[in-house]
Amino acid sequence: MTIPPRIETPRLVLRRYRPEDAPLLKEAIDQSLERLQPWMPWARMEPTPLPQLTERLATFAANYDAGTEWVIGIFDREERRLLGGTGLHRRGPAHVLEIGYWVRTGAEGQGYITEAVDAVRRLAGLVPGITHVRICCDPRNLRSAAVPGRLGFVCLGVATADPDDDRAETATWESAVVPGDGAS
Ligand SMILES: CC(C)(COP(=O)(O)OP(=O)(O)OC[C@H]1O[C@@H](n2cnc3c(N)ncnc32)[C@H](O)[C@@H]1OP(=O)(O)O)[C@@H](O)C(=O)NCCC(=O)NCCS
Repeated sequence: MTIPPRIETPRLVLRRYRPEDAPLLKEAIDQSLERLQPWMPWARMEPTPLPQLTERLATFAANYDAGTEWVIGIFDREERRLLGGTGLHRRGPAHVLEIGYWVRTGAEGQGYITEAVDAVRRLAGLVPGITHVRICCDPRNLRSAAVPGRLGFVCLGVATADPDDDRAETATWESAVVPGDGAS
């Protein structure tokens, strides 16, 4: 069993990106840079020209199909507006997938990310050998930490990535997945 290319949740469509999503993604990222850049290292490299972003989305789609990582767009139910992004990444122990997420400016505070992460956690259960998902975030990023807190993840602790830099801290949150549960 593999992760399906598209699922629906009560208010959202979560799906594999397509190269032709590049204009929607660019508009969402470019309008959200001020909020994303403090917390998302990739956002500090933005804005990306449209042709490069199109290529990146083709790579995301290929990786999704190969089962190496799953970068997922969060769309409204009509798939006309990109509300943010999430994904499952192979980082850390072999039985764990890490969930990342961001929401576009203007779509915060409506529970979209909590709804998406709950569904993505269930999708992780479809990947053979995966028993847990993790969320890693800077403990100062209170809005981010609230997402796993709301979904009942357990905080495993806070680690200092670089002992010489006491600002670089990462809190790790973990949740079990139900094997083969998927998303309904
Ligand atoms: C982290 C981030 C995604 C959180 O966004 P968010 O909008 O707070 O998260 P959600 O979409 O889950 O919304 C939760 C809020 O909606 C409210 N809400 C409204 N309807 C809701 C519903 N149906 N279900 C759940 N929450 C709902 C919640 O009460 C909460 O608001 P509050 O914080 O005022 O209590 C966002 O701040 C962001 O993109 N930050 C920059 C990127 C980033 O830091 N990513 C994470 C890196 S680790």
